[in-house]
Amino acid sequence: MTNKPIHVWDIEIRVFHWLLLASVAGAWLIIQVGPPAWLGLHEALGFAVGALLVFRFFWGLFGSEHMRFGGFVRGPGPMLAHLKSLFSGKPLRFVGHNPVGGAMIVALLLVLLGVCLSGIATMGGFDKAGPLAPFLTFAQGRQAKEIHETLTNLLLVLAGLHVAGVLLESVLLKESLIGSMIHGKKEPHAEALGAAGAPKTPRSAVAVILSSLIVAGLGLTMLNLSLQPALGVPALGIPPLYVKECGSCHTAHHPSLLPSSSWKLIMADLGDHFGDDASLPQDKAREIGDWLVKGADLGWDSKAGQRIPASLKTEEPLRITKSAFWERRHRKIPENVFKTKLVGGKANCQACHVDAVRGGFKRGGIAIPEEIN
Ligand code: HEC
Ligand code: HEC
Repeated sequence: MTNKPIHVWDIEIRVFHWLLLASVAGAWLIIQVGPPAWLGLHEALGFAVGALLVFRFFWGLFGSEHMRFGGFVRGPGPMLAHLKSLFSGKPLRFVGHNPVGGAMIVALLLVLLGVCLSGIATMGGFDKAGPLAPFLTFAQGRQAKEIHETLTNLLLVLAGLHVAGVLLESVLLKESLIGSMIHGKKEPHAEALGAAGAPKTPRSAVAVILSSLIVAGLGLTMLNLSLQPALGVPALGIPPLYVKECGSCHTAHHPSLLPSSSWKLIMADLGDHFGDDASLPQDKAREIGDWLVKGADLGWDSKAGQRIPASLKTEEPLRITKSAFWERRHRKIPENVFKTKLVGGKANCQACHVDAVRGGFKRGGIAIPEEIN
């Protein structure tokens, strides 16, 4: 037996490992400390994690020896034997993943898959975007968000155990497992146990072509679904008359933001409109009023359309900006920000929300304008 280090981790799995760590850590950090407009970056990193998982799945089927599922997924017997050896002070040595480490990798990959899927479901129902938007209601999106957060906490626990296991084994076996995940090599040891039963040869050309086709199909399907209309968000044209007459003092508010009963009250008394005179000729007022009432009654499953009308204050039924949901979402913004010329009041939603007129309020489209001196 020579003392030459042996190749254990191929370049694909090492790049996979560190890219996965970077994408997961990046996605997590952005949500913890980033501004709302960075949600798009969080989602992009989430899709990157999903793509890496798909790669890992195929690499588990067609990769080389230590990468194949058959090479490291072991039953409870070998896991117990391995655990016993750890406590006996004579730890068994493995070339690839040890049985307990292998189980941890399966657990990590499955939880990550759940995090990705629940993330796409949150995006679809809660934010009405992405490949699941045509299928999920807002309420389902909220449930998905809870699952997404619970699974993320579980992932943090598992990741902590994974790192602890790596450090423990590195100490017990006096070999740097982190180093070998960087350069791919391990010192040879006569007693080291190999990957039982897994073929050494990686990937045939047919496997590569087949998996590429499946991945391309999956990607195109998701892209196509992302372009379909979201469930519960009707396509509603905004009449120019409405924007002209009701958009001159503040944003022309989307009909989904108030129930039809509130719109009727507003349109019934334009002469005394929050202290202003906003009166209109009767025919114009009727046309706008009819459109607002019809629009509100379409039923909106968007976040703003679900949360704002449902949380209006009974004593302020006409005030979007007094609804509990609106107040909660904007409580971190100092009062004087709304008074600047660039913002022009709380009712001027489009100063900070690019898609306000269409009733969107996507987190990716939020920016508070700042004066440059
Ligand atoms: C002459 C200016 C003017 C015009 C025109 C006008 N509004 Fe207003 N509107 C106001 C003012 C002022 C407020 C109170 C804003 C505030 O307190 O920040 C207001 C508030 C509102 C609010 C409540 C916003 C909130 O704070 O939640 C709604 C809804 C609204 N207007 C709808 C309409 C509609 C519908 C029309 C068209 C028929 C219209 N407005 C036309 C001046 C106007
Ligand atoms: C001064 C800027 C500003 C104005 C004006 C403003 N918003 Fe916002 N809005 C924000 C910011 C910033 C957030 C994100 C708060 C957070 O979650 O950190 C937000 C969040 C929201 C959300 C939640 C979005 C989500 O997905 O979490 C809705 C809905 C919303 N605003 C509706 C409105 C409406 C309706 C108006 C007008 C009546 C309005 N906003 C006016 C700055 C503004």
